[in-house]
Amino acid sequence: MASSSSTIYHATATAPVNIAVIKYWGKTSTKLNTPTNSSLSVTLSQDDLRTITTASCSAAFKSDGLWLNGDTHDVSGARSQACFAELRALRKAKEDNDPSLPPLSTYKLHLISENNFPTAAGLASSAAGFAAFVRAIADLYELNESPTELSRIARQGSGSACRSLFGGFVAWEKGIRDDGNDSVAIQIAPESHWSTIRAAILVISDAKKGVSSTSGMQATVATSTLFPNRASIVVPARMEAMKKAIIERDFETFAELTMADSNSFHAVCLDTVPPIFYMNDASRAAVRAVEEINRCAGKKVAAYTFDAGPNAVIYYDEENQDIVLGPLKKATANTPGWPDKYSHINTTLPEGFNEAALTPLSGSISRVILTGVGPGPLEVPKEMALIDAAGNPKPA
Ligand code: DP6
Repeated sequence: MASSSSTIYHATATAPVNIAVIKYWGKTSTKLNTPTNSSLSVTLSQDDLRTITTASCSAAFKSDGLWLNGDTHDVSGARSQACFAELRALRKAKEDNDPSLPPLSTYKLHLISENNFPTAAGLASSAAGFAAFVRAIADLYELNESPTELSRIARQGSGSACRSLFGGFVAWEKGIRDDGNDSVAIQIAPESHWSTIRAAILVISDAKKGVSSTSGMQATVATSTLFPNRASIVVPARMEAMKKAIIERDFETFAELTMADSNSFHAVCLDTVPPIFYMNDASRAAVRAVEEINRCAGKKVAAYTFDAGPNAVIYYDEENQDIVLGPLKKATANTPGWPDKYSHINTTLPEGFNEAALTPLSGSISRVILTGVGPGPLEVPKEMALIDAAGNPKPA
């Protein structure tokens, strides 16, 4: 393609949300954004939750910029700058090797992003956001780096983002190097390995969260006396057990570990000075509902987990869909998010089910999102770019 000073180069990618089953909470270096412990997550389907980002660059652009859902966002912060610098350095090395390439590494970048879910509602939007940011620029620059190599960059944008560069079941290995270069994500198993894993998300609040994860985890590391035991003893053992449970598709162990780790994470939050509360009464009602579903089933068929906000994510295996979703549907009958394909789910409670365990949940959920495990970032055809011919965001 003949280029001129007004040529706009662009590439578009989507990236998924991931919800950890072994939580990242705590940093060893805020500069490198390296974690105190490894973590492990499930990547969710992009049909329901994803960020789409068009990365564009041109000699005509005056400054770097980011538009998210139509609003401009600051990219002068150290995290965005670190991602830009790393990606530009990789592009520059390519250009140095092949001088016929256009000098994209010297051009300003415009990033246009859209989420198909509420931003900052505790639904890991920063994870999908930074993963799409890095993937789209890597595609624009035609970089050959692997997703693990790109995860090293995404980690510097937001820790959990490094896990959103893969589909399926993903570990973020904390690494041991001082420069943080081995603190990267690897895929434990693709989504096809255990494609029947589903997630019911009970959206309790669409509001922006109170204490950001970054400041919350800093406070926990500085003040919680329970925390060192979690980071150095509890989580390393759980990581190994969780990998084994996933490889063996052992849902009961997966569920036990997921719930224990969510509770451990929220326990160190409570142990922080001053204490941090992410779960609220509705979150605790979701815990009770899941405990009752499991008690009544006589085994663990559902697993709750909560991030830095009140929303509940409930994992289950499709083979147990009816026994897990029946009670949840009964409790949230008038809540948006139950599509027709779930109309067959029977809300008659099984024999012996303690209905009182569901009562506190009713009325406290604003939306239900029914989704499942899904793939990693996807490249999007050029014609679906979110920019117009001048490089500005297209109206939504
Ligand atoms: C509770 O990745 O948002 O969701 O690295 O400071 O951007 P920063 O933190 P972030 O933390 C996510 C924490 C969590 C647990 C998890 O996803 O593992």
